[in-house]
Amino acid sequence: MVANWKENPETEAEALGLFRKLAKIPRNRNTEIVICPPFVYLEKIAEEFKNLESRARLALGGQDIFWEKTGAFTGEIGPTMLRSLGAAYAIIGHSERRKFLRETDEMVNKKVVASLEAGLKVILCVGEPLAIRRQGFTAAKKFVRRQLAEDLRRTSHIKFQTSSSLVIAYEPIWAIGTGKNCPPFDAARMAAFIKLQARHLKPPVRVLYGGSVNSKNIADYLKNKEIGGALVGGASLNAAEFGRIIKAAGSR
Ligand code: PGA
Repeated sequence: MVANWKENPETEAEALGLFRKLAKIPRNRNTEIVICPPFVYLEKIAEEFKNLESRARLALGGQDIFWEKTGAFTGEIGPTMLRSLGAAYAIIGHSERRKFLRETDEMVNKKVVASLEAGLKVILCVGEPLAIRRQGFTAAKKFVRRQLAEDLRRTSHIKFQTSSSLVIAYEPIWAIGTGKNCPPFDAARMAAFIKLQARHLKPPVRVLYGGSVNSKNIADYLKNKEIGGALVGGASLNAAEFGRIIKAAGSR
């Protein structure tokens, strides 16, 4: 279960407060929580993380990563830098970055390869826009298949350390932050399709669903065995609501 805070909250004090609350949420044996704050808060949060009584099934992640470890790349942060802070994951290819920062599949692919090679676990986001979805489910699958083919180029040679080394999040763009969540049956069908497209990777990838997930709809997603968890945006900023989501995830 991934908490993607996006560009929130506005101050470090609030970020620490939110982290402390999320870290207290009881974690069921089969649920891992990954918290992805903005980069600027990661160092302080990582210190808190190290001092927690129990870090079992709790991890930190970045919301993005650059493909070079070091160099003249103003503003960028490399996979080793992130790892050295104690973060285990990076979200890559989120549709907001593809849209607002013009990230291409080629860039996403470089980030995926560099991260995996550096031992950083990847949460790769894919998903179709509304215009494609309106053409039907087959068009949506075609869109996602092309994204996966391009985003996962040059990954077959990489030895994945664990089954969570590469996680793919299906996030239909029209369902993100809109309150219009994707019908769970469609999300499950797409998750199965994604697994099929990534079947050359060993161990098999896990697929998450993302897009307007909340405590009311999470169970409907998780009852499909194809869906291994969720990427949660808005609802991860509210500790009580995220706690209810985690509780529902644990009882599946
Ligand atoms: P949301 O965001 O839960 O606010 O829809 C999900 C995401 O973009 O990861």
